[in-house]
Amino acid sequence: MADTWEQLTSECMQCHACALAETRTNIVFGVGARDAEILLVGEGPGQSEDEQGVPFVGRAGQLLDDMLEIIGLDRTKVYIANIVKCRPPGNRDPLNVEQDACIGWLRRQTALLRPKIIICLGRVAAKVIIKEDFRITAEHGQWFERNGVQMTAIYHPSALLRDVSKRPETFDDLKSIQAKIRQICTHTDI
Ligand code: URA
Ligand code: SF4
Repeated sequence: MADTWEQLTSECMQCHACALAETRTNIVFGVGARDAEILLVGEGPGQSEDEQGVPFVGRAGQLLDDMLEIIGLDRTKVYIANIVKCRPPGNRDPLNVEQDACIGWLRRQTALLRPKIIICLGRVAAKVIIKEDFRITAEHGQWFERNGVQMTAIYHPSALLRDVSKRPETFDDLKSIQAKIRQICTHTDI
């Protein structure tokens, strides 16, 4: 039978499919509008997200909110999730085995949401969602189409905190995202 958001959320909240279950405080399922046309995908929860159970609530999250605001978006107009739902200890990258164990949850979220646009935040998400050999430095801001869904990747907000020189390129990428939304989205008035 097809998922409902309620079923999927309650199932995910019991997940022990990988070792990150042992060290997490909270599962970070996702946040936003369940009818959003735009899905943003990060890498995995950090410390603040693990404590609060909500994606992108720390320093990177503050920057993400500012980035959304630049193009007239906020958390009521998008859905935000991560490749892995539990925090990798010490903020290391999620291991392949953890990503493989967790990706089914995101696939089921995506099937429920049926977004028109998927925005990958950083290299890890882009490799899983767009293509295995994705090069974030060379290919950020480019558009890819998969099964009628428009996809792009931008630098992860944490990378923009570490290296402000990447911000002008990201501004251009955000403008391209805004243009794409204006072109194909119907319930986002921006
Ligand atoms: N970084 C991510 O990739 N995801 C979050 O939810 C927070 C920080
Ligand atoms: Fe389950 Fe994903 Fe958490 Fe691993 S990271 S325990 S697969 S929800």
